[in-house]
Amino acid sequence: MGSLDIAKKAAAFKAVDEYVKDNDIIGIGSGSTIIYAVERLAERVEKEHLRLVCVPTSFQAKQLIRQYKLTLGELDTHPELNCVIDGADEVDSNMNIIKGGGGCLTQEKIVASCTERLIIIADYTKKVSYLGEQYTKGVPVEVIPLAWVPVRKKIEKLLGGQADLRMAKMKAGPVITDNGNFILDWKFPPSEYNWQEVNEKLTMIPGVVETGLFVNMAIQVLYGLSDGSVQRHI
Ligand code: A5P
Repeated sequence: MGSLDIAKKAAAFKAVDEYVKDNDIIGIGSGSTIIYAVERLAERVEKEHLRLVCVPTSFQAKQLIRQYKLTLGELDTHPELNCVIDGADEVDSNMNIIKGGGGCLTQEKIVASCTERLIIIADYTKKVSYLGEQYTKGVPVEVIPLAWVPVRKKIEKLLGGQADLRMAKMKAGPVITDNGNFILDWKFPPSEYNWQEVNEKLTMIPGVVETGLFVNMAIQVLYGLSDGSVQRHI
């Protein structure tokens, strides 16, 4: 296993061991790090006979829950979650977070909004002092397909930078989200941002469904390090 995977696994295992208890309703994030968290949840369910319900944040998460034979729940029946564990693309020193590299930002934010305990698990490369320091793909913005051109123009006029339509790799055309929408990746110009305000400006544009900016949402970020240890954000 490479050092990045050692780090992801360490953060994921720590989150599950520290924040999950019997009878919990858990939100399951998306991405590559969450796979280790689901693996650990399944181990604990088998060994400790935990009764858990897992609410997915994406098609991927739903498949993982099924694959590991965990109990699948949904927000209709479980609108209040004990905790949500999810990954991140970048986390700054104030715990402002960019998510949505995997395109699941809207469901991830909805599920995260249903708990008071959003726990982020990330490898050491995700920890930065300011957003955009390492992650150059920008802030993902999910848009209603018919609005993508006006939304792109409005973002660029309002905030500068460049908003690119995310294109699929194995198909001609744009990436389609789990909700049937498009994604604009907003490459923002270097500046000192109030990310709460930026998020509000973006979400006010008609046609924007949600952004990948998670501001004042996480209560903890656990960073896995290459030696298998875990560093806490706070
Ligand atoms: C999915 O849309 C994303 O928000 C992921 O949670 C994020 O990209 C982190 O993914 P990794 O765990 O693969 O780094």
